[in-house]
Amino acid sequence: MRSQKYIVAFIVGFLISLLAAVPGSQAQTKLEQDSAVNDGCLRCHGAQGLKTKQDGKVVSLWVNEEAFGKSIHGTNSCTSCHQGYTDFPHQGTLKGEALSQQTNARCRECHADVTKVYMAGAHGKALSEGKKTALCSDCHGIHNIRKHEDPSAMVYKNNIPHTCTKCHEGRIAISYEESFHGKAVLLGSQKSPSCADCHGSHDILGPKAANSPVNKNNIPDTCAKCHRVPYENFAKGTEHFVLEKGGPGEPMFYTLKFFVWLTIIVITLLIIHMELELYRKLKKALEKRKAEKEGL
Ligand code: HEC
Ligand code: HEC
Ligand code: HEC
Ligand code: HEC
Ligand code: HEC
Ligand code: HEC
Ligand code: HEC
Repeated sequence: MRSQKYIVAFIVGFLISLLAAVPGSQAQTKLEQDSAVNDGCLRCHGAQGLKTKQDGKVVSLWVNEEAFGKSIHGTNSCTSCHQGYTDFPHQGTLKGEALSQQTNARCRECHADVTKVYMAGAHGKALSEGKKTALCSDCHGIHNIRKHEDPSAMVYKNNIPHTCTKCHEGRIAISYEESFHGKAVLLGSQKSPSCADCHGSHDILGPKAANSPVNKNNIPDTCAKCHRVPYENFAKGTEHFVLEKGGPGEPMFYTLKFFVWLTIIVITLLIIHMELELYRKLKKALEKRKAEKEGL
């Protein structure tokens, strides 16, 4: 009887150890560790009121736990992007721009494939030259990053124009918002091009680069992705023009001015015409009444 009990216990123990060895349950323990780390961080950073002062400015240190949980990195530990945060008060940690650069270097470590493409584009080149540029988190967000096909992602087709024009304001933003393409995309079109359909996303290059989709020689092909039978001259115009004197938008500027003045003049003449007509009618009516009175 006793030896049977030992055998049962042995078999049960063996089965349990087998279960513990399957990869799924290992992932489970890792997840538990991650969420334990995050629970620790969120005890302080989950509070909306947590703020600090940096260079005289008040900076919020709140991390929206719900938004982070729903983000694509919701199962990552905080320390997968923020290394060195083991003690409190935090020791030797960076702030502001330096913190941004440090954490973005972590994005590049995990996303090596995208990084290779990004470093060859205009934004990546500017980064390696130490110039102002767009970091991963400028286009994707921080604790709220979503998959690109998720409609709430900053890089979802219809949100891309807002994301890029945070930095590319002025002529670029205005010309896009006023174009057929921009109006359609901002109203929800899936067919019209967002910035990324013409420029790419990580491999973006300026018009001077020979291999840029917006280089003079490549523009016809870029338009032909959608406009399969482009007319002659179709791709020759300037894409980002605004209606102003002296720029590529000059002919359209004067055409608009002409029609605005034409409208003003026509309406003014129309009003003068109506008033003269009313005056004539009133005069006639008064004369008629006078004649009737005199006739009595
Ligand atoms: C006991 C509360 C507390 C805990 C726990 C905590 N933090 Fe902080 N954290 C703060 C405070 C307060 C600041 C502001 C420090 C300052 O202004 O010098 C801060 C600042 C930060 C910053 C901004 C940069 C900096 O260093 O000022 C980051 C990033 C950060 N914490 C990440 C984390 C991570 C990741 C964890 C978990 C591993 C964590 N924190 C745990 C209170 C906490
Ligand atoms: C996918 C990477 C990633 C993960 C995971 C992540 N962070 Fe961050 N975090 C960043 C980046 C990037 C910044 C820098 C933002 C900037 O440019 O100012 C940042 C900034 C911060 C700051 C400074 C205030 C701010 O919002 O700019 C705090 C505090 C912080 N993170 C806490 C946390 C905590 C707590 C967790 C875990 C719940 C966490 N982070 C998880 C990427 C991450
Ligand atoms: C100038 C804006 C911009 C910057 C900067 C940027 N991205 Fe993206 N990213 C996009 C857009 C737009 C998409 C949407 C999909 C597409 O068109 O390729 C995307 C898609 C992605 C995807 C999913 C699709 C894929 O190609 O695998 C990942 C992962 C990604 N980005 C990571 C990064 C990382 C990491 C960095 C920093 C090295 C970065 N991105 C910098 C705009 C940007
Ligand atoms: C510890 C590794 C790690 C770090 C650090 C990291 N990521 Fe990720 N990231 C992942 C993993 C894993 C996925 C999920 C891939 C999947 O499910 O397709 C992911 C997904 C993404 C996606 C969605 C891809 C898509 O299909 O649209 C984007 C965008 C992204 N990460 C950007 C970033 C940015 C920006 C940073 C820095 C702030 C960053 N990642 C930091 C591991 C990491
Ligand atoms: C239909 C295609 C198309 C779309 C959509 C588009 N662009 Fe462009 N972009 C071009 C072309 C072509 C050029 C080359 C110069 C020109 O024709 O204006 C260019 C040039 C640029 C330049 C370089 C300007 C310079 O003078 O060096 C920037 C920056 C730019 N675009 C940003 C954007 C942003 C941001 C968006 C979205 C809000 C956008 N573009 C949408 C085609 C497009
Ligand atoms: C955080 C700010 C920021 C964001 C967001 C951003 N850019 Fe840029 N972009 C820059 C800066 C700064 C440069 C100039 C880099 C340099 O010095 O060469 C640049 C360069 C460019 C150029 C090359 C211009 C030229 O004439 O060489 C193009 C095209 C461009 N960006 C398009 C985009 C598009 C499209 C998006 C969105 C998908 C975008 N950018 C998002 C800051 C930004
Ligand atoms: C991603 C697909 C796509 C790309 C790339 C694209 N277009 Fe368009 N374009 C459209 C769609 C769809 C319309 C239909 C009107 C609308 O949506 O407002 C349109 C409308 C137009 C119109 C106004 C109406 C018309 O048919 O005459 C012009 C002009 C135009 N595009 C020029 C261009 C030029 C020039 C390029 C290249 C620099 C270009 N497009 C690239 C999709 C695209």
